[in-house]
Amino acid sequence: MSVPDRRPGTPAADEREVSGTPRRVAVISGGSRGLGRVLVERLLAEGWRVATFSRTANEFTGWAAQKYPEDFHWEGVDLTDLQSVREFGRRVARQFGRIDLLVNNAGILHRELFLTTAPKRMDEIVTANLLAPLHLTQSCSRAMVRARGGVIVNISSINAVRGYRGVSVYAAAKAGLEGLGRSLARELGPLGIRVNTLTPGYFDSDMTADVTPANREKIKNRTPLGRLGTVAEVADAVLFLASPRSEFITGQALIIDGGITC
Ligand SMILES: NC(=O)c1ccc[n+]([C@@H]2O[C@H](COP(=O)([O-])OP(=O)(O)OC[C@H]3O[C@@H](n4cnc5c(N)ncnc54)[C@H](OP(=O)(O)O)[C@@H]3O)[C@@H](O)[C@H]2O)c1
Repeated sequence: MSVPDRRPGTPAADEREVSGTPRRVAVISGGSRGLGRVLVERLLAEGWRVATFSRTANEFTGWAAQKYPEDFHWEGVDLTDLQSVREFGRRVARQFGRIDLLVNNAGILHRELFLTTAPKRMDEIVTANLLAPLHLTQSCSRAMVRARGGVIVNISSINAVRGYRGVSVYAAAKAGLEGLGRSLARELGPLGIRVNTLTPGYFDSDMTADVTPANREKIKNRTPLGRLGTVAEVADAVLFLASPRSEFITGQALIIDGGITC
């Protein structure tokens, strides 16, 4: 899918291709594996410059750095280190000169009954899944405001809209992201910035690798389309929300779950 240029900002000279077309810059948190990795791969292939972080580098980040030395930037940052998350956004804006797209993708899932979850663990889950996106969004959206345009997509979860045992803290944090999206869309819309939430159901990734075969069957049985999603399908929905095909959509949450919540 091609994502044509949005309203242009004022790119620095070294962000222009030989043709003079401004290069678009995306920040994707957690771009080393799963959904984040597919987004990074697709955006690079479409000609974007992409900055991402995760805790650890891997074969993919090494490959991308080699194949796209000018256009791919990876750093080791932990979501729970909020200062580093903020600084990552600021550094990307400074180094690349602009930020056109932010996808708050990185997240951590911890399954445990609420009554036995240690306070420190609760803090960690909320920090990684809600506070880190808030800090990254603030540092990246300031660059978007300067350019008077941009798109933000926050990755939530159906746990934010339906109750499931053992994920109360994760669900609370993800629901917070959806609230952020609605109010921020009101604040940033007049400045040409769209903010939306993508709310996926179960899709295959490392995060769902430990779902037991029995639970996998239960999920399939409860899903009208009869299967888990693929990471490629979820990436398609993110790229739709990032593209001019959704130019008049802001402040919304789009559920992609094969119908499990319908
Ligand atoms: N998979 C599902 O069924 C599902 C369903 C609904 C919503 N979601 C949401 O979709 C998003 C992507 O999920 P996914 O399944 O693609 O996840 P994943 O395969 O587990 O990948 C998560 C990515 O985030 C990074 N990450 C994890 N913890 C981090 C931390 N503390 N600091 C920095 N980076 C960190 C990981 O790299 P490192 O481990 O190296 O840090 C990796 O790049 C998440 O927000 C998740 O909550 C997933």
